[in-house]
Amino acid sequence: MSENVTFKLTLPNEAATERLAQQLARIVRAGEVIFLQGELGAGKTTFTRYFARALGVTGRVKSPTYTLVESYDLTNPNHEPHGARQLHHFDLYRLGEAREWFSAGFDEYLNPHSIALIEWPTQAQGALPEPTMRLSFEHVDDAADVSSESFDGQRQVRITVPVSVDVRALSLE
Ligand SMILES: Nc1ncnc2c1ncn2[C@@H]1O[C@H](COP(=O)(O)OP(=O)(O)OP(=O)(O)O)[C@@H](O)[C@H]1O
Ligand SMILES: [Mg+2]
Repeated sequence: MSENVTFKLTLPNEAATERLAQQLARIVRAGEVIFLQGELGAGKTTFTRYFARALGVTGRVKSPTYTLVESYDLTNPNHEPHGARQLHHFDLYRLGEAREWFSAGFDEYLNPHSIALIEWPTQAQGALPEPTMRLSFEHVDDAADVSSESFDGQRQVRITVPVSVDVRALSLE
């Protein structure tokens, strides 16, 4: 595995999640796999919606809660710095066991022409390759703030990327 760096960001509101998605959509490349972790409602699908938009997806981005995967064509030549043909968005929460990843044929979705975002990757532990990037979303766990409105939209995200990514150039802060 290549060397990685992990850093933590505060996302004060959903607009910050959108900015993060836009920044990461700029550096993602065909063939890459991104794990999205964090509890229910932490913001994984929300991040994916903004990420898909940033890659030029114009239609509705539905949560693949029951379908396990939703796929999008990325054929707009104006949005192709990444060189990928498809974006696959997985939500493996309802995957019965890891080997279903293979029996469902999902392994073939990860190929040099696609970008894959995978929610609940631990459900297919052992079946998935090492991701290029890992994002772990958390509610901000400050009990004193729980009832306040600002708490509602605030998240923290732990991001793991290869050291080759110039994190400062992402201007995420
Ligand atoms: N800073 C934020 N970033 C992302 N989402 C936020 C933020 N603040 C509030 N939200 C809201 O939190 C909710 C996150 O739900 P979302 O479906 O993205 O979670 P999820 O992690 O995909 O959950 P699940 O594991 O159930 O699929 C959305 O309703 C979104 O509008
Ligand atoms: Mg989700």
